[in-house]
Amino acid sequence: MAVPASAVVQLRSQPNPPSLQSCLLAAERASRDDAVRSLSWIVSAISSAAKGIAARLRTAGLDGALGAVGQVNVQGEAQQALDVIANELLIRELESREGVMVLGSEENDELMLIDGLPAHGGRYAVLFDPLDGSSNLDVGGAVGTIFSIYELAAGEETRLQAGRRQGAAGYVLYGPSTVLVMTLGNGVDMFVLEPTVGNFLRVAERIAMPAKGKTYSVNEANLDTFPAGYQRFLAACRKSGYGSRYAGAMVADVHRVLLQGGIFLYPPTAKAPKGKLRLMYEANPMSMILEQAGGIGSTGTGSILDHEPESLHARVPVILGSREDVAALLAELASD
Ligand code: AHG
Ligand code: MN
Ligand code: MN
Repeated sequence: MAVPASAVVQLRSQPNPPSLQSCLLAAERASRDDAVRSLSWIVSAISSAAKGIAARLRTAGLDGALGAVGQVNVQGEAQQALDVIANELLIRELESREGVMVLGSEENDELMLIDGLPAHGGRYAVLFDPLDGSSNLDVGGAVGTIFSIYELAAGEETRLQAGRRQGAAGYVLYGPSTVLVMTLGNGVDMFVLEPTVGNFLRVAERIAMPAKGKTYSVNEANLDTFPAGYQRFLAACRKSGYGSRYAGAMVADVHRVLLQGGIFLYPPTAKAPKGKLRLMYEANPMSMILEQAGGIGSTGTGSILDHEPESLHARVPVILGSREDVAALLAELASD
């Protein structure tokens, strides 16, 4: 059966796609809000770091940057050399941008406070997962960077805010090409890195994700310890012909869901009773992206974006997907 044209996000090549920088400038010009200027300035710093990360990833198999560094991060995970390199590149680009007052990273135990007050404009916190899916590094699989940006209230630099308060969010997927997807709170745009000149060029704007998909994305090895509602939902998906796709990097898996619809899950498990993924730099930014594109982000009991943060590295069950798929799962969870 032919797939209806509306079933997936259509990506058409345009003769002269605009660069990320020109899109950010256009967003600034179109808005009277000073915050848009600051947010786009910060996204531009992240895009510079992403180019550096993409370059290091390309040569990692040749210059010895693969493998672990023999250190464990605050979450007890062995750090890969590229986790550390990506983290340093992001910190270096962001710490000197005016307005950036606080950084928070998966690879650092605590929030990092930056000295000095901005001469004008707001104050911002940037939270990030420098390399997502880093277990894919040594086997040439896709990895990503995830970021989340908040405007800070004066004197509240270290207070974590719920994801609903994010001013901007996005991710970079390092796959066959380097793809940047972001929102400034007014729709989701997608850019691909043109490697010869080094510009991110826009390939899709105002992405509207499909209302329903045909695949689910979950680590099925954990199925036996998922709460019963998840198990019933997944059984129903299989019965109705859904396929399964799991890259083991949230960025790659959620990117597929954004473009083709379906559902990504990291439920509570026996090993990780609150789920494995981190609220502040994994669940919240991905949730903002999906909601801005017409999808849903849920913890199973409420919206991810309304979940009050307990700490920088707090974990939360994650459901991200097309609205009909998520609604079907939530109905199963509610019936227990
Ligand atoms: P990170 O590499 O930043 O620690 O994140 C890994 C996360 C996420 O990308 C992915 O969805 C998930 O871990 C995979 O976990 P499992 O190996 O348990 O499936
Ligand atoms: Mn991650
Ligand atoms: Mn990571």
